[in-house]
Amino acid sequence: VLKLQFNLNLVETFYRKRREGTAAPARTTNYKAMVMFKISSVETTPIDGQKPGTSGLRKKVKVFLQPHYLHNFVQSTFNALTAEKVKGATLVVSGDGRYFSKDAIQIIIKMSAANGVRQVWIGQNGLLSTPAVSAVIRERVGADGSKATGAFILTASHNPGGPHEDFGIKYNMENGGPAPEAITDKIYENTKSLKEYFIAEDLPDVDISTIGVTSFGGPEGQFDVEVFDSASDYVKLMKSIFDFESIQKLLQSAKFSFCFDALHGVAGAYAKRIFVEELGANESSLLNCTPKEDFGGGHPDPNLTYAKELVARMGLGKTNPEQEPPEFGAAADGDADRNMVLGKRFFVTPSDSVAIIAANAVQAIPYFSGGLKGVARSMPTSAALDVVAKHLNLKFFEVPTGWKFFGNLMDAGMCSVCGEESFGTGSDHIREKDGIWAVLAWLSILAYKNKDNLNEGKLITVEDIVTQHWAKYGRHYYTRYDYENVDAGAAKELMAYLVELQASLPDVNKIIKGIRSDVSNVAEANEFEYKDPVDGSISKHQGIRYLFEDGSRLVFRLSGTGSEGATIRLYIEQYEKDSSKTGRDSQDALAPLVEVALKLSKMQEFTGRSAPTILS
Ligand code: G6P
Ligand code: ZN
Repeated sequence: VLKLQFNLNLVETFYRKRREGTAAPARTTNYKAMVMFKISSVETTPIDGQKPGTSGLRKKVKVFLQPHYLHNFVQSTFNALTAEKVKGATLVVSGDGRYFSKDAIQIIIKMSAANGVRQVWIGQNGLLSTPAVSAVIRERVGADGSKATGAFILTASHNPGGPHEDFGIKYNMENGGPAPEAITDKIYENTKSLKEYFIAEDLPDVDISTIGVTSFGGPEGQFDVEVFDSASDYVKLMKSIFDFESIQKLLQSAKFSFCFDALHGVAGAYAKRIFVEELGANESSLLNCTPKEDFGGGHPDPNLTYAKELVARMGLGKTNPEQEPPEFGAAADGDADRNMVLGKRFFVTPSDSVAIIAANAVQAIPYFSGGLKGVARSMPTSAALDVVAKHLNLKFFEVPTGWKFFGNLMDAGMCSVCGEESFGTGSDHIREKDGIWAVLAWLSILAYKNKDNLNEGKLITVEDIVTQHWAKYGRHYYTRYDYENVDAGAAKELMAYLVELQASLPDVNKIIKGIRSDVSNVAEANEFEYKDPVDGSISKHQGIRYLFEDGSRLVFRLSGTGSEGATIRLYIEQYEKDSSKTGRDSQDALAPLVEVALKLSKMQEFTGRSAPTILS
């Protein structure tokens, strides 16, 4: 009775305030649907294994379907943020639309209401790409002037989706970037001792397919759920960065042809708006651009192995395509933060891509016309960017794998463009890597290089841009060998063996000369360690490096994202300055170093594998 009385008082206060005009301004609020809810505390017990990485918690859907599983994680996150920050907060909740997202959104809405969140913002149909979430946190202003305080992003990135595949959830902070380790550690600690969570069980499900605001009344006041257009804020941001007019001219030129593959991921929701509606590309240039819960049964990872349809269309497959391949092709992953860029019958390595974007950004992209604050790459990414930074006299940073390290530099105004070999490229416009941004950056460079060529003259192609870049800066031949699902113990032993070898460089060089006499000497060998120049934190054991006198590198790393066993990644790179030698086949050019890497590490002995699972 007391509770009912309390709730009635609340409704009364709300309507009085609204009559008096002191309540938040009404939007398309559905007041008729204003339902009063109460808060329940549900008893729970800790669940093992809820340790989020920087990319959040990723597990099979069936794991998330266990009773209390998602609830425990969400409550542990709220507790880690502290009630003070959660009460009155504006939270973004959305993701790549994979299977279980819709159910997860309803649960998170109910738990947000119960934890005192003021409002939840949802992209229509629960769709927001990871970069769009970052943009929404940073840029979107609600009708009442509010800004988002954080976001739950529902994605397992490039992992397959569907009832038997992966789901994931991660929390992003007020700066638009992933929660730092201090928070993710705290979340994990909380999951280990959680006893109860809060939920508004009687809150009806919210229709997330229709744009508008639904208001509810709770013991702590009004609670709103606003469903908004998934693309508008992001499109607006892109238009403020790039010269859409010049890209439009390029896309509409008869000399140019374009193709984009969203791999059935959330990028499709942006591709149509940006490439077709804004830039006038033909609808037929979009492949797999309707987001699907199971990504069409595919693996939504934009690389030469998984983006099969695009690879074939671009003339890179084994069989010749029926039509002449387009001049430019690109793909993004499930949540649209990764990208792959292709030219006609031509693959641009992610390491080259970021170097070429950095080399051309100031001329080709209005956002950078004032100059670059600095550039950065992850350690295993090739040194192509280093050469550009040196040439242009730019601040340069080599950071461990993981986007969060770039975020710190960006927040401190030290970095404008950055990238990773793992198909991530981005800039300080947000705090996540950004697949569509990378495509627009490449289209901008193409538009800039061809600004006088579109009417007469020959098109300067993607391949031309890359080969001209190599001629100027030299080429970093690059390949990556992945050994997936290796026995975790064996992987550790291999890494320990490599570290042990590093104790004596003369011995290392003796072994190497015994394998191949035609590779240069190892000048330095170590385990990569990084001291963050902003917060002073130190990250150790970030990969084992063998640095050769001629600029070649071998890097061995254990993947931080694998879900079964261990994945060993071997990165092999060779620098060629002589422009008469930059046109070789990459695997040929790297053959001596590959042989050295495999024999030096005793790869087959340790792992039992005679070949990598994936070679890229
Ligand atoms: C995710 C992160 C990237 C990182 C990649 C590395 O995609 O967002 O920043 O480069 O994982 O994955 P790995 O499996 O090599 O640890
Ligand atoms: Zn992703």
